[in-house]
Amino acid sequence: MAPLVAFLLSLNLLELIHRASGVTIISSDKDVEVNEFDTATLPCDYVLERARDARLEWKRIAGEHISFVYFDGRIVENYRERATMQGQSIVLQRVTRADTATYRCEVTAKQDSKIFAEISFKLVVLVPPATPTCKVPSSAMSGSTVELVCKESEGSPPSVYTWYKDNVVLMDVSAKDSTANNVSYTLNRSAGTLRFNPVRKSNSGTYYCEAHNKVGRSERCSLKFMQISDLDVTAIVIAVVTITLVLLLCGLGLCYACRRGYLGKRRSAKSNAATRTNTPPAAEDFKHTKSFVI
Ligand SMILES: *[C@@H]1O[C@H](CO)[C@@H](O)[C@H](O)[C@H]1NC(C)=O
Ligand SMILES: *[C@@H]1O[C@H](CO)[C@@H](O)[C@H](O)[C@H]1NC(C)=O
Repeated sequence: MAPLVAFLLSLNLLELIHRASGVTIISSDKDVEVNEFDTATLPCDYVLERARDARLEWKRIAGEHISFVYFDGRIVENYRERATMQGQSIVLQRVTRADTATYRCEVTAKQDSKIFAEISFKLVVLVPPATPTCKVPSSAMSGSTVELVCKESEGSPPSVYTWYKDNVVLMDVSAKDSTANNVSYTLNRSAGTLRFNPVRKSNSGTYYCEAHNKVGRSERCSLKFMQISDLDVTAIVIAVVTITLVLLLCGLGLCYACRRGYLGKRRSAKSNAATRTNTPPAAEDFKHTKSFVI
């Protein structure tokens, strides 16, 4: 019995302290999670010191945007269909994903020593992730940096992502461990990125990803094949040598032609061609243009 009495006394004491310190909210501000189309109850119980009554307001805060839900003793227009006050709590019925926001209760008691108190709730309307889209390059050179991206935007709370290569899940490795474990990728599970730096030929394969949050797991995105090819040094050397040789031969040929005086003849041939292009277009050409215009 004694502990119970002590407990009750301490409760009384707590309330006395509250009363001495002006308006005080006694509800606790925890995050509220509800399934879509269910009911969310946000409690804002308070005690007053001297004041007989207090002004109560509920606001919705989404990023920069702040709007009233309960103001001047009534639920505002937009919410009248589905919000009610139960004492000092606000009850939102049939919540949708658009209701995910912060809701703040503000209590003002003019006659109290401390006249203002507030409490905020983060309301998360739970939505399972949609099928993500995955961006996978179809080919890349080994040694380059390649980033694969997985993304969906319905999941609430926000999804985390899992990547698979050839049907095997890619495990998390920190950047520090990645060299030690001879793994050439870094995963950011909240951003959905899979980064190869540098990418190797052995990273060629079939990739897909999945999104999940505490509500559920998505379908996987469609499989994509990524082909990593080595830079073929031999081929490049051969190409460079060939081009050099061709240029060299052309140069030599030109010099030879110069000396023999062929170039002069060619120039006169060229000027002949120029005068020919100045003549009006042949009938056939004309027909061509006409049909094009039509
Ligand atoms: C790392 O892996 C690559 C390809 O899988 C391999 O060629 C290389 O020898 C490995 N290096 C070490 C230190 O294990
Ligand atoms: C993962 O991506 C998010 C969002 O782009 C970023 O804020 C976070 O710092 C990244 N985490 C790591 C470990 O790189």
